Amino acid sequence: LFLLLVLSTILMNVVVGQEKSNRIVINADLGKETISKFIYGHFAEHLGYCIYGGIYVGEDSNIPNTRGIRNDVVDALKEIAPSVMRWPGGCFADTYHWKDGVGPKDQRPSIVNVTWGGVTEDNSFGTHEFLDFCELIGAEPYICANVGSGTVQEAAEWVEYVNSSAKSPMTELRKKNGREEPWKVKYWAVGNESWGCGGNMTPDYYADLYKRFSTYMRAGRPYRVASGGTDPDFEWTETVLKKTQKFRNLIQGYSFHYYTFCHGWGDKTAATKFTENDWFHTMKNTLVMEERLERHIALMDEYDPQNRIGLIADEWGNWFTVEPGTNPGFLYQQNTVRDAVTASLYLNIFNNHARRVKMANIAQFVNVLQAMILTKDEQIVKTPTFYVFKMYKVHHDATLLPIDVSCDDYKYEDMTLPSISASASKDKDGVIHVSLCNIDMNKSRSVEIDLRGTDKLSKSSGEIITSAKENDFNDFGQPEKVNICLLYTSDAADEEDSVDLGGRRII
Ligand code: AHR
Repeated sequence: LFLLLVLSTILMNVVVGQEKSNRIVINADLGKETISKFIYGHFAEHLGYCIYGGIYVGEDSNIPNTRGIRNDVVDALKEIAPSVMRWPGGCFADTYHWKDGVGPKDQRPSIVNVTWGGVTEDNSFGTHEFLDFCELIGAEPYICANVGSGTVQEAAEWVEYVNSSAKSPMTELRKKNGREEPWKVKYWAVGNESWGCGGNMTPDYYADLYKRFSTYMRAGRPYRVASGGTDPDFEWTETVLKKTQKFRNLIQGYSFHYYTFCHGWGDKTAATKFTENDWFHTMKNTLVMEERLERHIALMDEYDPQNRIGLIADEWGNWFTVEPGTNPGFLYQQNTVRDAVTASLYLNIFNNHARRVKMANIAQFVNVLQAMILTKDEQIVKTPTFYVFKMYKVHHDATLLPIDVSCDDYKYEDMTLPSISASASKDKDGVIHVSLCNIDMNKSRSVEIDLRGTDKLSKSSGEIITSAKENDFNDFGQPEKVNICLLYTSDAADEEDSVDLGGRRII
């Protein structure tokens, strides 16, 4: 058996193999669950410069494009193998009327984006353009239907327009608009945050409405996702699950959103200027997510013991204050090593709950919140979060390996957090990948990895995402500061061997 142990580590001060206080036991022969590649999903919303400027520049732009879609963004995305792309929102989805965005562009109405900045939305990027974009990047599309201000008929017709091959007014319209064959989009959300921007509904009211919409959104047998409540709203989850329990064919997924605010909602901490206090609380608030996720999963286990309904974490990430001088309604923020560390925490948590978590979508992939990519006119930047997604590609559709982490604490003032986060998987060729993250801002860590249930290792290697300072970021017109570096490779590593890395040792 050829085995390659890749130690994917985040933060340069993760040191593997010197002391015994941090120990990870990995059972390489006990994997049962698959880590869905859809956990590595993305989100595009009509918000700020996400769609216009970030994806779509129009065919007449000087920026190289394919049918109006930026080539550089497509190429960058291909590097991280985007599995799924959610669209058109977010809050925007419950204001969006899809027929405004199909047909000849000069006949599409301009509307006001009432949710994000009150700017004009000219509808030049609509259903055809979005699905073209998905085809270019090789991602599965995931469309969110308007429940808040839309009708059942409108949602049903959208699914029919996109998915049906039968003759009907909607399929004839699609053909007239230039698309002969249906796209067959599998993933559809039935509203977004229906407790808030999606209609300020009660869970009872939403659950009834969900069943109504879902009954008619049926062309192409879609995978339909119900809106979750706020992240600590367990009553919402219980009500929706209970009220849909006898309608199993109508619900395939249940949505969960979680954002990390440094010190809570409305916090004004900047993305690039922060203290250790800010850093510690960012880590702490990210780790709270696991506890919330587990409580929602426990309710799903109660109402759906066969594990049929997937938990769809279709919005997650860091939400800091906007960059100085930018429109507060556009949610544009930079991205540092701190974002790389929390991305790694989130992804380790999703991996480790792969039994129930079937999809996750970071918000948003370009120019908004915790972006992979930032654009400025013809320039493009790949953020530290981009490199985490690139490093974690190895887990796509791999078998999750059970892992047991014992570690010391990251101490700040009188508070503590576990210092190490990890997840591990085995891919189809038998290669084992371990992703490690040390969340301590000041102190290096040594980690011993006890790899059980496998033959002798024939080869091992490690790579790291690193930079000199924790608030380093990649900027326009500057050489990249944060990227993936090869840490070591060894042809002779086995469970007993260690690899000397000039001050860093890896077992
Ligand atoms: O991602 C920004 C917004 O956050 C989304 O539009 C909304 O769903 C959430 O509240």
